[in-house]
Amino acid sequence: MRKHILRCITCKKEFDPKPGLYYCEDCGKILGTLEVIYDYDSIKEESAVKEKKFDKKASMYQFDFLLPTESKLKFDEYVGGTPLFKFDLLGIKDVLVKYDGSNPSSSYKDRASSIAINRALDEGNDTLFCASTGNAASSLATLNAHTKMKTYIFVPSTIPDGKRAQLEISGAEVMAVEGTYDEVYDASLELGLKKGWYCRHAAINPYLLEGKKTGAFEIIIQNDFVIPDYVLVGVGDGTVISSLYKGFWEFKEIGLTDKIPRIIGVQAEGIPAIKKVFDKGKPYKPQTIKGNTIADSISVGKPRDVIKACTYIEACNGYFITLSDEEILDAIIELGKETGLFAEPAGAVPYGGLKKLTYEENITESDTVCLVITGNGLKDVNAVEGLINTESLTIKELEKRFE
Ligand SMILES: Cc1ncc(COP(=O)(O)O)c(C=O)c1O
Ligand SMILES: [Zn+2]
Repeated sequence: MRKHILRCITCKKEFDPKPGLYYCEDCGKILGTLEVIYDYDSIKEESAVKEKKFDKKASMYQFDFLLPTESKLKFDEYVGGTPLFKFDLLGIKDVLVKYDGSNPSSSYKDRASSIAINRALDEGNDTLFCASTGNAASSLATLNAHTKMKTYIFVPSTIPDGKRAQLEISGAEVMAVEGTYDEVYDASLELGLKKGWYCRHAAINPYLLEGKKTGAFEIIIQNDFVIPDYVLVGVGDGTVISSLYKGFWEFKEIGLTDKIPRIIGVQAEGIPAIKKVFDKGKPYKPQTIKGNTIADSISVGKPRDVIKACTYIEACNGYFITLSDEEILDAIIELGKETGLFAEPAGAVPYGGLKKLTYEENITESDTVCLVITGNGLKDVNAVEGLINTESLTIKELEKRFE
């Protein structure tokens, strides 16, 4: 485990890690989210770093010199190491497409769940809990099923069937609650912290971001250390986008690269909570909005990592854009036709974002771009109902078709 300290994103107060410490109490749960800070000068001297010894297909634990865990899970060697494809898309050559739908539970969230379970083991906790729009929970339930630790899951009762099935199959204790994700998050956080269970709620546990940042490390090594000009990703709570920034920042900090891409967060027009805060400018003031979108994973009105997301995206000269539900559905279908990759709605929004930005000529053919596809479309097939052909043929009709 790498030695590290925790630092409040707002007041910069530093803390030594200890079980049960999740946020800076002076600043509160949203303003006081913590950053995990390592001794970067000493990490620069590690042989893996000095010799740039990396494997394009290895799991995220090849980056253990920047990870805060000791324990090892059966699943660890299969988390991360996901493909980075290159496709000519929307008039741009060789668009990098990082496809995280091939993780064990089929989403980016496995990178964080794996770290959470290992941290819980490191701390000697035997119970984990998670409130989620669906993927974080199904990821935790999947990766934790084989351990002897208990998993309590809190999700809105409206989560897509695929994600619900994953939860039930894994034997987790599932509470599907009638309420929004934001309501379920608050209610279960209070309960779980009181019980002393290990918390895998977005943002409030700073270690989750540490797992997710490995997506950026992989983009770098898989693209031979050439950093794209732009990275696009879907945004709900803001942890995934923050993690991408931190990953690019850390590799620069330890001297492996010299550039951080402009990161563009894509939100749903129906509930663009982080974009609203970012566009108002500093000091960033968290606010809760009401709304909805077909992209359930980013249907978040009270984003928990809003401060990190805004701070980091400003630092890399990035910004946030929105898509309508219609544009999101078009993105799923078009991405599938162009690449064969099937993304859930929140996973397809980077493609829709690129389409919008190329149309507006904010991104042009001379730019290099990476799309981060965070979730597999099989998790939410109902989303494309009505957009795909579900007709059937009789044998006779089949024979006629090819006469
Ligand atoms: C598939 C997918 N994409 C994007 C996101 C957005 O991540 P964050 O909530 O950290 O912004 C999520 C979060 O649940 C997700 O499941
Ligand atoms: Zn603070």
